Amino acid sequence: MKITFFSSQPYDRSFFEKFNDSIGFELNFLDVSLDEHTAVMAKNATAVCVFVNDKVTAAVIQQLAEMGVKVIALRCAGFNNVDLESARKYGIRVCRVPAYSPEAVAEHAVAMILTLNRKTHKAYNRVREQNFSLNGLLGFNLHGKTIGVVGTGNIGQAFCRIMLGFGCTVKAFDLIANKEMESIGVTYHPLMEVLNTDIISLHCPLNEQTRHLIQDETLAYVKPGAMLINTGRGGLIDTKSIINALKKGQIGSLGIDVYEQEEKLFFRDLSANIIQDDDIQRLMSFPNVLITAHQAFFTDEALSQIASTTLNNVLQLAKNSNLKDQAALLV
Ligand code: NAI
Repeated sequence: MKITFFSSQPYDRSFFEKFNDSIGFELNFLDVSLDEHTAVMAKNATAVCVFVNDKVTAAVIQQLAEMGVKVIALRCAGFNNVDLESARKYGIRVCRVPAYSPEAVAEHAVAMILTLNRKTHKAYNRVREQNFSLNGLLGFNLHGKTIGVVGTGNIGQAFCRIMLGFGCTVKAFDLIANKEMESIGVTYHPLMEVLNTDIISLHCPLNEQTRHLIQDETLAYVKPGAMLINTGRGGLIDTKSIINALKKGQIGSLGIDVYEQEEKLFFRDLSANIIQDDDIQRLMSFPNVLITAHQAFFTDEALSQIASTTLNNVLQLAKNSNLKDQAALLV
């Protein structure tokens, strides 16, 4: 049985090959992303394996179905890029990796907070140039600060635990309050109250309700000078609004691991190119903005779990059995 991988990177190949040893699928790694023009490259495959920026639209799914593809396996948790309704229509099964090392993403969010706050990225460069001055590096204690968390699923919960460990007060917003989180001290509040905190971290999925959760109207509720961290999905933040908020000082600092227009940029080396996206260029020009290129998931533990879960998902679905982990099954 053949699995065609789209948007694959060298690290995907090494982790998937390692876990495939005991299974024996034929793995076909492509570096191109999946869209209407590249779907044809999945010819003869039983399954396609896709990542966050592959466009699994109705037209793509129709093409995959016509070629006999039976399974779409996402090697990630978020599935906003897949037209599930079309998959249902064409009888293609869709699966994902619902919870691979949520700590990987939560810890990256914390790394962004610490970097923006204590400016270690600037200190590193400064000291290497024999500049030992502290001017401009002033931070604040996390202990005693209030953190606003939007979305307390797997990643949000791991993040809350870390922030409670720092001695922070954690206020959360979710559709459903999590009892376990409440028992360790997290309190649930309406979104507007959660935005009125010292540091806001976004951990909800991107969907019709959450698209542009952060825009002009909601930014008005943000505590002036607050730090905003987004390791969820780029579309949670309206880019134009956040640029204006940064210019006005309404947002004190911004850490993003995801970006609204990231599919044309992230996971590529564009160091010799002229970037046409003026918004990311503007964001990169702010001294109080830290951007990482969708690397929050990128730990050894997470990649191992992604590879083993994805291959097992495909194995079970190709045998027409249901997945043991119901959260992994989307269609
Ligand atoms: P999860 O499904 O365990 O948790 C999501 C939580 O968000 C749930 O508690 C849900 O009730 C809540 N939620 C849903 N709609 C909401 C709304 N309108 N307002 C507030 N809360 C809402 O998902 P998990 O594993 O915690 O991941 C969260 C997101 O993180 C994923 O959807 C994905 O987009 C992103 N992610 C980013 C990664 C990265 O490398 N940057 C890696 C993995 C996930």
